[in-house]
Amino acid sequence: MRQGARDPVSRPVLVFDSGIGGLSVLRHIRAGDPALDLVYAADHAGFPYGGREAEELLAHVVALLGRLIDAHDPCAVVIACNTVSTLVLPALRARFSVPFIGTVPAIKPAAAQTRSGLITVLATAGTVKRDYTFDLIRDFAPEVAVTLQGSAALVRLAEAKLAGEAVADDAIARELAPCFVDRDGTRTDTLVLACTHFPFLLDEFVRLAPWPVGWIDPAPAIARRVSEVLARGLARGEGTTRYVSTWPPARFPESVDAAGRWQPFPAV
Ligand code: DGL
Repeated sequence: MRQGARDPVSRPVLVFDSGIGGLSVLRHIRAGDPALDLVYAADHAGFPYGGREAEELLAHVVALLGRLIDAHDPCAVVIACNTVSTLVLPALRARFSVPFIGTVPAIKPAAAQTRSGLITVLATAGTVKRDYTFDLIRDFAPEVAVTLQGSAALVRLAEAKLAGEAVADDAIARELAPCFVDRDGTRTDTLVLACTHFPFLLDEFVRLAPWPVGWIDPAPAIARRVSEVLARGLARGEGTTRYVSTWPPARFPESVDAAGRWQPFPAV
């Protein structure tokens, strides 16, 4: 069927991430609109994205999104991944006509909220290297000292936790330690969760933090943005959620697939 030919009210919203991280965004979209039909797509075969080279990741994501859009004919696509959004959004918008809603580091609200003037952006190794992230700091936090902290280990730990595996406190604490800066008694007071995997570790972060800080999860703001885009009359479904993954079915760990909910989607 030609894209856009279906009745817009029955078209789902596609939510995309490298793994389970985007579920931290999906839960807020669902809470904001119980009637939306959602398709959650995880590129587990391509995971993790954080360490992948920019050009190669861009080509990979544009190709995969093209196939997901063909397969699901979404009325909107949420890129629930900072590593992708800070790199690929212009290319996706140039290539496809469907509206894209991105997830980018919440540096603007963090700069507005900090009292100490020290904030930390906790993200993947990819996101902390992006020009897009540097531009956000220049435009919205020129007076703020921003610590950029990349962690691949926390992404893996979040996946493990959601798969039901035990995650060690000391492994989390080790990654968290450099996020907390004390400059002659002036301390980091605001931490941006700039990877969608990290809200799933928030309980551990709060418990293991050397001192209390404000934690910023952009997901509620993204869900509001989705509502604004859809308010243009695009979506009204039956409240279904489907889960697809590029993981070959043989490799679905039982714990992840406990509800038998992941459907295979061919990897690129
Ligand atoms: N969840 C992703 C993000 O928001 C990326 C994690 C990864 O694949 O490295 O950046």
